[in-house]
Amino acid sequence: MSTATLAKTATSATVEFRALRRTFGATTALDGLDLTVNPGELLALLGPSGCGKTTALRILAGFESHDSGQVLVDGEDVTRIPAHKRDAGMVFQSYSLFPHLTAIDNVAFGLRMRGTGKAQRRRRAQELLELVGLPQRAEHYPHQMSGGQQQRIALARALALQPRVLLLDEPLSALDAKVRLNLREEIRRLQQELGITTLFVTHDQEEALSMADRVAVLRAGRLEQCAAPSELYARPATAFVAEFVGTMSRIPCERAGEGTVSVLGRRHAVDGAMPATGDLHVLVRPENVLLAPSPQGPALVVSASFLGAVTRLTVRLADGTEIKADLPTEGATALPVGSAADIALPDRPVLVDRR
Ligand SMILES: Nc1ncnc2c1ncn2[C@@H]1O[C@H](COP(=O)(O)OP(=O)(O)OP(=O)(O)O)[C@@H](O)[C@H]1O
Ligand SMILES: [Mg+2]
Repeated sequence: MSTATLAKTATSATVEFRALRRTFGATTALDGLDLTVNPGELLALLGPSGCGKTTALRILAGFESHDSGQVLVDGEDVTRIPAHKRDAGMVFQSYSLFPHLTAIDNVAFGLRMRGTGKAQRRRRAQELLELVGLPQRAEHYPHQMSGGQQQRIALARALALQPRVLLLDEPLSALDAKVRLNLREEIRRLQQELGITTLFVTHDQEEALSMADRVAVLRAGRLEQCAAPSELYARPATAFVAEFVGTMSRIPCERAGEGTVSVLGRRHAVDGAMPATGDLHVLVRPENVLLAPSPQGPALVVSASFLGAVTRLTVRLADGTEIKADLPTEGATALPVGSAADIALPDRPVLVDRR
């Protein structure tokens, strides 16, 4: 296994985006992005389409210019350094291998450009092919390989020059579910073994939460929150993050005094700041909704979807509010579609947002 040799030479860089701005005509792609990536961490960039994820990566890699702000790698502003001297390895969403080159020549391409001798670059490229589990594919052309294999080759190519930073822009999104899961684990394992600072762009919140040390949620070119997956999920800083990461239902509630609301007939303390004015909603995750069969209950079960160990029910209240609730699948049989239930929230502070 060649990871040991690779790991020794790899360095872990700190990456900082400071007040980074980029506009395209009337479109603001990045609107003062502030974000620090720690040495050796895998940071997932998550956010809706068009929020500036790819733009941030392309500016870091040197493929795109910026209007103002800074991008620092180990404290040095890299925005004036040409792309090929930036030490960033990038893997894109679509397979971007050179179609006329074999796998091994694709991986060795950057080394060739750098003037590494043929024997040495082939040896190194072969090591990288082993690293990504495809040593026997060295002489295959891209069109002779599956999508998953091509992305592994692209990953090997990105790692060949021992970049200080690895940039992955939705590398798995074109792959089918199973290949995607395998490659997810493999990328994570490799990244940890090499200790390489990695920015991973994804649309898929599950992918972000399962792979990353920290997840940065972007919204309209700005950072909304950056935190460890568990914290992001349990303590979202804003309603936007709460609803973007995981599933949330909104339930209308009434103000019931300082820092307290009344919801589903009970009083709950509010978690964090309570908006000073306006009507409010409580935001609640499906696993935190408590349901019990009750013929006179206020919640009507309107649909059920089997998710394996849990079943997700949707219940409707008299005012039309729909709430999602996860039940252990065994328990859900007592609440068939059309039945009624009592509904409550656990006795703990709730997250609220304006209606
Ligand atoms: N070269 C360009 N010319 C004009 N507009 C651009 C260009 N590149 C990006 N944009 C715009 O900047 C905004 C951010 O684009 P970007 O590609 O960074 O988004 P993204 O977060 O990667 O989205 P997605 O998840 O769809 O890939 C979008 O509104 C996009 O249309
Ligand atoms: Mg993109």
